[in-house]
Amino acid sequence: MKIAIGCDHGGFDLKQVIIPFLKEQSVDVVDVGTYSTESVDYPDYGLKVAEAVTGGKAERGIAICGTGVGICITVNKVPGIRGSLCTNEYMAELTRRHNDSNMLVLGGRVIGDELAKNIVKVWLNTPFEGGRHQRRLDKITAIEKKYSK
Ligand code: RB5
Repeated sequence: MKIAIGCDHGGFDLKQVIIPFLKEQSVDVVDVGTYSTESVDYPDYGLKVAEAVTGGKAERGIAICGTGVGICITVNKVPGIRGSLCTNEYMAELTRRHNDSNMLVLGGRVIGDELAKNIVKVWLNTPFEGGRHQRRLDKITAIEKKYSK
């Protein structure tokens, strides 16, 4: 699997932990930045990851800011993205099973490294269940279409 990953300055330290963790599991990583703790704007990096996913450069994406909230709001503005801010493994499992999440969002300043790695592992390895959940995703897609110009 190929994963695009990006962050702002608040997510940089956690990104540097998650990238080698992904590589250990034979995941190909596309790192879209930022590449230091110098202050940047999270919408710029959320958009880079989201477009890597919708443009086919990666199958799924991981986006990280300080809380995860701002970058999660950002990525979910991109049609086709189902970005999930997860703070525990249960959320990671259910957002794959029920929401077919294609972007995991983490808050680098609100969770520890080991919990973040566990969340990533569950999110990577849990399949989508389909069935009634696909009907609900189709309704989300219909909402995107309703508000797209
Ligand atoms: C940056 O200071 C911070 O606002 C950002 O990382 C994130 O937490 C926003 O939601």
